[in-house]
Amino acid sequence: MRKIQPLKLKFPETLQEKLDKRKDEGSFRVLKISDSSLVDFSSNDYLGFSKSQAISEFAQRKLKEYSSQLHGATGSRLLSGNYPLITDFENYLAKQYDAESALIFNSGYDANLGLISSVAQRHDLILYDELSHASIRDGISLSPAHSYKFQHNNLKDLEAKLSKFQNQFETIYVITEHVFSMDGDEVDVEAALEVCETYGACFILDEAHAIGTLSKTGYRDLGNKIFARIITFGKSFGSHGAVILGSQDLQDYLINFAKSFIYTTALGQDTIARNWAAHDYLRTQSQDFESLRSIICYFLETLKTHELASYFIESNSAIQSCVIGGNQKVKTISNQLQAEGFDVRPILSPTVPKGSERLRFCLHSYNTEAEISKSLSKLSELLN
Ligand SMILES: Cc1ncc(COP(=O)(O)O)c(C=O)c1O
Repeated sequence: MRKIQPLKLKFPETLQEKLDKRKDEGSFRVLKISDSSLVDFSSNDYLGFSKSQAISEFAQRKLKEYSSQLHGATGSRLLSGNYPLITDFENYLAKQYDAESALIFNSGYDANLGLISSVAQRHDLILYDELSHASIRDGISLSPAHSYKFQHNNLKDLEAKLSKFQNQFETIYVITEHVFSMDGDEVDVEAALEVCETYGACFILDEAHAIGTLSKTGYRDLGNKIFARIITFGKSFGSHGAVILGSQDLQDYLINFAKSFIYTTALGQDTIARNWAAHDYLRTQSQDFESLRSIICYFLETLKTHELASYFIESNSAIQSCVIGGNQKVKTISNQLQAEGFDVRPILSPTVPKGSERLRFCLHSYNTEAEISKSLSKLSELLN
């Protein structure tokens, strides 16, 4: 029998060129295992819930209560993957955030993708903050609607665009983040909602980095005026998944049309139990939330002591970004901080615009004042 020589699959040239360009620009991404011996200034586990024994125990009790034997969901929510624990948790979430309905998605990325791509129609317009997360942008690019960005956190620019386009489209959707994932700054939610109400636009708010860091329940009081709120479970809740809060009509619509909800296996019971436990823990215990708030204050004071405030984007959240500029320079300083024991990650272009490459400090309830003093003192030495 003739021996067949295995062919070496050729990697397409255009793709290779794109990889080479990344390397030339110093923005080539590689996967690294996090070094757990370093001080955590990089994870989104703002309240330390991913390591909480109390939350693990509560989750185990929930699973027992529901006599849950299955670890996998076994299918899409629309087929075999719907179960009492997930629907009861959705009812709990609707109450907790004072919304008419709550619908769980497998991640924040899936939630934004499914929501935006399905609701915005051909004759609609989407106005979105220019620094919106990739999941929002991808949702927009999958939708047939027209879209324009407005200047970051500039409600005057948003208003000008609403005024210009208000009679040209059937529905206008305005999308922004409560706390911006790369800058850590916040939108004035009440003012943005007021602008949307004036022009009859539907307001969509991504609260991924705000819940558990700025407040426990976000814009609960305004809940019924906001078209959709997205809350993710992978940040302060230390787990995985997301929920979209809105009207019953919105929930019905998403169950019927959001492809990232329909065509995927649902989250398993273990994850749902953990998310429920984390929510209950945050609702009933305040110490982690308060520790985070006080460590953020300490960080801001220490920036002043070291005359570093001018490098940092003004922020009251757990995300504190030190803009340095230049992929190589940011990577070098990040490596130097890591060598000193601090896990501060570089955020490079193209994730952020060229020239605004930065170090991002993510603060946690379990960071100590000593860790902050030492890391900022080192940073000041490296920058000056
Ligand atoms: C603002 C924002 N929205 C959505 C997401 C996506 O959430 P998830 O990690 O659950 O997919 C992120 C994650 O980084 C985010 O920062």
